[in-house]
Amino acid sequence: MVAKLLGLALAYLTTTTLITFTANGVEIKHNGEVIYRDASVFGVVSKAVILECGSTLPDMYIWSFTKPGTEAIKAVVYDLGKGPRIQKLAQTLGKLTIITRSAALSIEKLPLAAHGLFTCQAFYDIEEEPIVYFYYVHLTVRVPVSKPYLLMSDVSPVEGSTMWMRCNLDNGTGPVQYRWQHETRNGNITAFARGNSSTINVTDVNRNHTGWYRCVASNAVNSETSNRLWLDTIFGPDIPQIDVTPFSITERGYSALERETVSLLCQAQSNPSSQYVWFYNNSQVYTGPQYTITKVLRMHTGDYACLAQNTYLNTRSKKTISLTVYYPPDGSPSCSLEPALNHTSLRLQCSWTGGFPSPTLNWAGDFVRAVQEDEPDFFQEANSPSSTSLLLPSGALTSNNSLFTCKGSHRALREPAKCHMRSYVPSGEPVCSAYVTNNKQYLMLSCSWEGGAPKALVWWEGPGGHGKQGEENSNILILGYGTARSGKPYTCHAKHPLQLQIKTCRLTLEAPVLLTQRRVVSVYEGSDVQLTCNLRANYLPVNEITWFNNHGVGVQDTSKYTLLRTSGWANLTVRDTEQSRDSGEYRCTTSNAVGGTDVNITLVVKRYPMPPNATLLRAAYNSRQRMEVDLEWQVQNEEQGGWTGFLLEQRWVSEKPGRRTSNDSSKEEGNSWNGRTSTPSWSHIFLQDPDVRIHTVGRLTPTVTYQFRIRPVNHRTIGHPSAAKTPAEPRYNMYPAVIGSAIGGMLFAAILTVLLLIFIIRNRNNNPRLHDMLFGLQHSQSRENINFPEDEVVADSEEIDTSPSPGPTILPRAASPLTPTPRGASPTPGSQAPPPGDGDEPVSVTITVKATGS
Ligand SMILES: *[C@@H]1O[C@H](CO)[C@@H](O)[C@H](O)[C@H]1NC(C)=O
Ligand SMILES: *[C@@H]1O[C@H](CO)[C@@H](O)[C@H](O)[C@H]1NC(C)=O
Ligand SMILES: *[C@@H]1O[C@H](CO)[C@@H](O)[C@H](O)[C@H]1NC(C)=O
Ligand SMILES: *[C@@H]1O[C@H](CO)[C@@H](O)[C@H](O)[C@H]1NC(C)=O
Ligand SMILES: *[C@@H]1O[C@H](CO)[C@@H](O)[C@H](O)[C@H]1NC(C)=O
Ligand SMILES: *[C@@H]1O[C@H](CO)[C@@H](O)[C@H](O)[C@H]1NC(C)=O
Ligand SMILES: *[C@@H]1O[C@H](CO)[C@@H](O)[C@H](O)[C@H]1NC(C)=O
Ligand SMILES: *[C@@H]1O[C@H](CO)[C@@H](O)[C@H](O)[C@H]1NC(C)=O
Ligand SMILES: *[C@@H]1O[C@H](CO)[C@@H](O)[C@H](O)[C@H]1NC(C)=O
Repeated sequence: MVAKLLGLALAYLTTTTLITFTANGVEIKHNGEVIYRDASVFGVVSKAVILECGSTLPDMYIWSFTKPGTEAIKAVVYDLGKGPRIQKLAQTLGKLTIITRSAALSIEKLPLAAHGLFTCQAFYDIEEEPIVYFYYVHLTVRVPVSKPYLLMSDVSPVEGSTMWMRCNLDNGTGPVQYRWQHETRNGNITAFARGNSSTINVTDVNRNHTGWYRCVASNAVNSETSNRLWLDTIFGPDIPQIDVTPFSITERGYSALERETVSLLCQAQSNPSSQYVWFYNNSQVYTGPQYTITKVLRMHTGDYACLAQNTYLNTRSKKTISLTVYYPPDGSPSCSLEPALNHTSLRLQCSWTGGFPSPTLNWAGDFVRAVQEDEPDFFQEANSPSSTSLLLPSGALTSNNSLFTCKGSHRALREPAKCHMRSYVPSGEPVCSAYVTNNKQYLMLSCSWEGGAPKALVWWEGPGGHGKQGEENSNILILGYGTARSGKPYTCHAKHPLQLQIKTCRLTLEAPVLLTQRRVVSVYEGSDVQLTCNLRANYLPVNEITWFNNHGVGVQDTSKYTLLRTSGWANLTVRDTEQSRDSGEYRCTTSNAVGGTDVNITLVVKRYPMPPNATLLRAAYNSRQRMEVDLEWQVQNEEQGGWTGFLLEQRWVSEKPGRRTSNDSSKEEGNSWNGRTSTPSWSHIFLQDPDVRIHTVGRLTPTVTYQFRIRPVNHRTIGHPSAAKTPAEPRYNMYPAVIGSAIGGMLFAAILTVLLLIFIIRNRNNNPRLHDMLFGLQHSQSRENINFPEDEVVADSEEIDTSPSPGPTILPRAASPLTPTPRGASPTPGSQAPPPGDGDEPVSVTITVKATGS
């Protein structure tokens, strides 16, 4: 039994040899019994195998074969001492030979038919006591596994479905073990499953199952691997994933800054790959995974949806994000300063509208930081996203010219935008002034305090409820012309938010007061005189000063009057004064809203005193032609002076034909010759030189009898005429008649001139222009000579004949130079000032404007 067990404990098979163990070393006592031995041998089809029959060569043996499933035992080979004899049956059991010097069977190319029980009956010691052994050899013929091939129920399963894989095998002795390998796309090979079943079920297929599959079949002989097979799992699309570049996420979703390039990338896992479609606010805008918006604009804000489609499965998935485009407000913040709380505080306002999201506005400036830290709640007023304001009470800022900065920050801007403001206290003090409308309807009180930032508040308070609500910078209080209060102050108040105290200026209205230097002015006739009138105070809304002349007529600028006027004074110059015409009371007057005033000035125009009398000493023809007369005269009391020239007068008395031979100076008075009934008038020659005492009169008509006389002249005052003389006949004829007649012609022209002068003087009221042309020069020059004011009032001494002049109307220049030379106690040039009059006298009331600052 032990030997049988040992025999069963086989060594191992090789493909070429079969090793059989026998219980050789055990000596069994011979008792005539047949001994049985069992052995198992494994062979592989087509390979060789050796079947042992004892360890020593028996004397005789017989190999037989029993086919499994049958009882019959059939001989294969025997050797009864005479060599082995192989039976026909052996041909079905492969190429069978007997190994020399043994009873072992060797089979090459083992066929499957050799599978069965081989029995070797061996006989030993036949000569003595024969021993019989039965060796049972169980030959098992195995088949190696062939190359398996893989089958799948579905090579493109949809994710989640169930499939199977089968490892098909044609040949191979069981038991067969199966293993499945999975190779991913990237080449990683893993064991997927193993077992003794050729089929596995894969439930709930997923995308991770995608890849190459192999199966390996193994049995006791060998192991074979199938070719690989690709499994493609169909799936998706998953919910897409959207990547936004640049990435910026807020509570609203994604955000981008205007003008940036925004890229939206959509990815959804899917097999086959997804098709992508982009939607903006539900309208399709793009096809493809990556939607790029170059220069994104604020209008691009909205919802972006990515739709992923698996066209094979006809499945889809969608994801929506919201994108907000941030943009800054336009421009920069705008700052303003305004008064608040009735100008007791300053409000700083900063606003910057537009933009998304709203910008952040901050006040900057050292002072603001300071005050905010002190009392942040007090200063911070209403704030809205796009505007902010600060309230600063008066006195919070001590410095004039404070700078305020408002900074607007926005995430779409790199640098904050700013606005600046400065606050100014108006310079100086408020200024009060008053003026009157042209039509004298209104008096306007103006107050201004300009230059502040913000503007100051200015208001009026006056007596009797005259006042005015505040206005900015300046304020005009309008009063009815007559309604202003005299003597009561009108106060202007001005308040600036940066200043605690209120500034004021005042206007007090008073009626005007006119002054003059002299109440009585006296001048000599012919000179110009200036009458002056001025206001005591000078800075008022007073009407123009007007002058009235001695006839009570308002004075205009004429040749007679020259008016010089300023707001403070009015000078009236009366030109070429004449005693009768210009003497009298002059008046200057003015008024304002609260009263009027006038000043009377008396002008006294004096004549110069009468010059002394003169006597014509001699009058005689200097030739027989009777064409020239020599005259000589003298002045009485010559040493006392008092004349400036002479008027030489002549007139004809009668005319006779032929030549006169006698000189009769007395016969012509009142005589009328040639039909004349009235006495012929005197004609004049003016001699400017006060020192002259002789004069020759030429151009006389030889046939005429003349009279001559002389009158001293003091400026315009003409003295008494001397006694008239008729020239005496010459004693001898000194000059040829020819010369005499020539001179006579010249003299005739001179006479005409004199006649004209007489005419002009006599008619100067009717013809003042002519008069002024002739005497104008003398007038201006006589201003030098209107001194010597003498109290003697000179009577009108103009005694020139008033009868119409027969003289011609031509105006010869030769007669005009009436330029008397002062003589004797000569006048002091430039001292034409009239005699000192009364002192300054206030006549009436004035408006005084006083500005009082506080
Ligand atoms: C399987 O075995 C049979 C008989 O031995 C043989 O004809 C056939 O070729 C074998 N098939 C393979 C795949 O080895
Ligand atoms: C292969 O798969 C195994 C197990 O899943 C893993 O540990 C290994 O890192 C993979 N190797 C590669 C190259 O992917
Ligand atoms: C695989 O599934 C089929 C059908 O559902 C079943 O008949 C079979 O037994 C399953 N095989 C294994 C190994 O589970
Ligand atoms: C597929 O494999 C990945 C990584 O190994 C894993 O995270 C994932 O859950 C797997 N998917 C499924 C459907 O099993
Ligand atoms: C898109 O939708 C957003 C949010 O509803 C809206 O604000 C935006 O105006 C829409 N844009 C257009 C072009 O309709
Ligand atoms: C504003 O201030 C002025 C001067 O201080 C005062 O008279 C006036 O009553 C104030 N007005 C208001 C509304 O407070
Ligand atoms: C404030 O500053 C402005 C500008 O520099 C100046 O004109 C004004 O006079 C100043 N006011 C005072 C009160 O100093
Ligand atoms: C007008 O009169 C005033 C006062 O006499 C005098 O001061 C002033 O110079 C005069 N003006 C002119 C232009 O003569
Ligand atoms: C000058 O003459 C007039 C008239 O001829 C005469 O009345 C007068 O008294 C005379 N004067 C002197 C001072 O002689």
